[in-house]
Amino acid sequence: MKNCENGNQTKRVIAVCGKGGVGKTAFTAMMTQALMTNEKAGKLIVIDADPAIGLPNTLGIKAERTMGQVRETIIDTAKHGDADDKTKLANLLDYLVLDTLVETDQLAFLAMGRSETQGCYCSVNTLLRCSIELLMQTFDTILIDGEAGLEQINRQVVSEVDDLIILTDTSSRGRETVAHIRKMVTEDGVINCRKLWVVINRVPDGFDETVLIQSIQEMNVPVLGIISLDENIVSYDAVGKPLTELPSDSQAVLGVKAISEKLLNQD
Ligand SMILES: Nc1ncnc2c1ncn2[C@@H]1O[C@H](COP(=O)(O)OP(=O)(O)O)[C@@H](O)[C@H]1O
Ligand SMILES: [Mg+2]
Repeated sequence: MKNCENGNQTKRVIAVCGKGGVGKTAFTAMMTQALMTNEKAGKLIVIDADPAIGLPNTLGIKAERTMGQVRETIIDTAKHGDADDKTKLANLLDYLVLDTLVETDQLAFLAMGRSETQGCYCSVNTLLRCSIELLMQTFDTILIDGEAGLEQINRQVVSEVDDLIILTDTSSRGRETVAHIRKMVTEDGVINCRKLWVVINRVPDGFDETVLIQSIQEMNVPVLGIISLDENIVSYDAVGKPLTELPSDSQAVLGVKAISEKLLNQD
C-alpha cells in the first residue's frame, strides 16, 4: 500500500478480478508460487475473496474456517447475546480473525467465505475489514483472488489496492468485461487502485493477439502480460492437483513468472 514502508520492502496489494471462469483462481495459484520464490515479494498473504472458496485446493492447503463464520458469530452475538457476551466478543475479535488464518512456511492464507445471514451489516463488514487491514500491515505482499464485482473486495477486504489486475480471455465477452470493470474503477470509483492492468489468459497456440491487445490499449489499460492455454493446467485441475506444483517450465507458469517480475520491479 502507498506510504507503507518496511525497511526497503514496499508493501504491495495486488487484486485479481475478471468475469467468472476466466482463470482468476488458476492465475492466483500460479502467482502465489511465483511470489513465494521471489525474495522481493517478502512476507506473503493470499486472500480468497470469492465466496465459493476455490483457491485452497489449487494451493494445496486446507482452510477450515472462513471470515464468513466470524461474521456470523458477530451478528449472532449482536442479536442474541447479553452485554457480557458482547464485551467478550469485542476482546476476542482479533483472535478470531487470526484463528481463520492458515500459515505455512511460505505463506499465510485467509478465506473470506460466505455468510448465511442476509441483510446489510455494514458496521460488521467495516469492523472485520479493519481487522483484516490491521493484519495486512504485518505482510509485505497481499494477493487477493476476487470476482467480477469488485464490491466484495472493497466492502470486506481492503479499500485500497496498488495493482488491480483484470484477467480476460480471448473472447469478446472477456473484452466487454474489461471495459465494464475499467468503468467501475475509473468512473464509478468502486475501489481505489493505483494501477489498473489487463492480463490475457488461456491464449491458444497460433492465436494472433495483436488486435485484442490493441483494443485493450485503446481503453487506456496497459497489458501486463499474456498466459498461454496450458494443457498441464487442464490435467492438474482434472484430478485436483495443486497448481503450485506445476513444472517450472510449463508455458503458463513462465508467463505468470514474467508478470510477477514486472509487477515487483516497478516503483
Ligand atoms: N492458462 C490456462 N490454460 C488452460 N486452462 C486454464 C488456464 N487458466 C485457467 N484454466 C482453466 O479454466 C477453468 C476456469 O479457471 P478458474 O481459475 O477456476 O476461473 P475463475 O476463478 O476465474 O472462475 C479451469 O478449469 C482452469 O483449469
Ligand atoms: Mg475462482
